[in-house]
Amino acid sequence: MNNTSRILCKALQDRVMSAEAAAALIPSGVNVGMSGFTGSGYPKAVPMALAKRIAEANREGRKFRISVWTGASTAPELDGALAEADGVEMRLPYQSDPTCRKRINAGEMEYLDIHLSHVAQFVWFGFLGKLNIALVEVAGILEDGRLVPSSSIGNNKTWLDQADKVILEVNSSQSHRLEGMHDIYYGTNLPPHRQPIPLVTPRDRIGDAYLHCDPDKIIAIVETSASDRNSPFSPPDENSQLIAGHILEFFEHEVKRGRLPKNLLPLQSGVGNIANAVMAGLNNGPFDNLTAYTEVLQDGMLDMIRSGKLSMASATAFSLSDAGLTEFNNNIEMYREKIILRPQEISNHPEVIRRLGVIAMNGMIEADIYGNVNSTHVMGSAIMNGIGGSGDFARNAYISIFMTPSQAKNGKISCIVPMASHVDHTEHDVQVIVTEQGLADLRGLSPNQRAKVIIENCAHPDFKPALLDYHDRAYKGSSGRHTPHLLDEALSWHRKYLAEGHM
Ligand code: COA
Repeated sequence: MNNTSRILCKALQDRVMSAEAAAALIPSGVNVGMSGFTGSGYPKAVPMALAKRIAEANREGRKFRISVWTGASTAPELDGALAEADGVEMRLPYQSDPTCRKRINAGEMEYLDIHLSHVAQFVWFGFLGKLNIALVEVAGILEDGRLVPSSSIGNNKTWLDQADKVILEVNSSQSHRLEGMHDIYYGTNLPPHRQPIPLVTPRDRIGDAYLHCDPDKIIAIVETSASDRNSPFSPPDENSQLIAGHILEFFEHEVKRGRLPKNLLPLQSGVGNIANAVMAGLNNGPFDNLTAYTEVLQDGMLDMIRSGKLSMASATAFSLSDAGLTEFNNNIEMYREKIILRPQEISNHPEVIRRLGVIAMNGMIEADIYGNVNSTHVMGSAIMNGIGGSGDFARNAYISIFMTPSQAKNGKISCIVPMASHVDHTEHDVQVIVTEQGLADLRGLSPNQRAKVIIENCAHPDFKPALLDYHDRAYKGSSGRHTPHLLDEALSWHRKYLAEGHM
């Protein structure tokens, strides 16, 4: 593929049309599998044209809604536009859009928040119903119809396989040098015929560099040229730097004790500024020849590849700021040798994560004193984003680390609480909790031992006395001493925040 011509397959050229004409082929009531993983590789024109059509229909009193399945979160042109038009019946498997969030929490949109590694297989199993249409951004179409994937893979392979009809957006703003960076594994059979996935290091290639699609299913091709949209990263704040420092110290300790090799084990790093700060810390730290087996590749990992600290990164999507994207495109010849993008059922596959011994580092909303972690819900009922890949990694990692500032909302709320108001990761899947206050290593500890370490090392001093007092009274007063709780009081902890109007 060269940089000027992106639709090389002659047999498909008669299907090129406008975004409006393609959107007109999507009827109300269908399930649409769209590309997109963070602000990367999402369709940029058809969802907006569709949102316009939906808004018109809704204005005229004809209810028009579709269900939107993606890789993960997308961008305002997709999630924002469709939610604004009130055009989404069911959204899955992950979102982080403010309008979507508002509609979900108002009960105006259904949302199925599922492990990202489950999505593809749930579709193959038929658990989610029929996928009617795939709407997928690609970087180009070769002479023989093979598709050059874009800046994210997500569930695109599954969407193209499983949908009855396919609409492609061919985006010329994506570098033509993305060609060859992807590894699409086509060997995932269904039980009882599944075979082991032959991936034993993050640098292994086990599939094909292209996506395949039956050309007869392609009903429209739309040419676009808008670039991906991701939020900028703020420079690491003091809390993020402290959290990164605690994690680095922990790694050094683990290497000294012989529990981690000198170049650690493949790193998984969640989304957001803290994760980016940890990468910055590692970039200035003592470890060399690191690898990553992760979900998204943020700016911090590009810095580490550039400096030579990170020798190889496997992911399913880029999640770069504008500055990161420019850096990547300017130096793509160097980066393309060190990055592989895979389908999300492989980047997040429990079998592979367990085999590689991935070190998982994810953000959280709160943790309780026994180590149960809430990644998704504020005050137990309002969704923030979703579980994303955090469960895929936490449950199967060599070491699973969760991190957060010790307080939220300008110090009004403690992120260490007596009982988590919602649990995404149970005490059984959490080995380390870190805040700017310190790090709690929970391995080998009973619930009461964990409570002492979490409160002592991670809680903010403003909340420590109340938490210690709670644990002490619960130990003396609850019916069982294994995981002591005073149930009414545990719940009133969050009730107090609500009553004080912090949420
Ligand atoms: N109580 C109430 N609100 C809280 C809170 C708490 N204990 N902790 C955080 N928040 C609020 C913050 O105030 C902020 O709200 P605002 O945007 O209105 O200011 C919001 O939650 C995000 O918090 P922030 O500190 O900016 O954290 P973040 O950007 O690091 O995100 C998660 C933290 C948990 C929301 C995010 O990591 C997430 O969605 N995780 C789940 C998915 C995941 O782990 N994916 C990676 C897998 S590869």
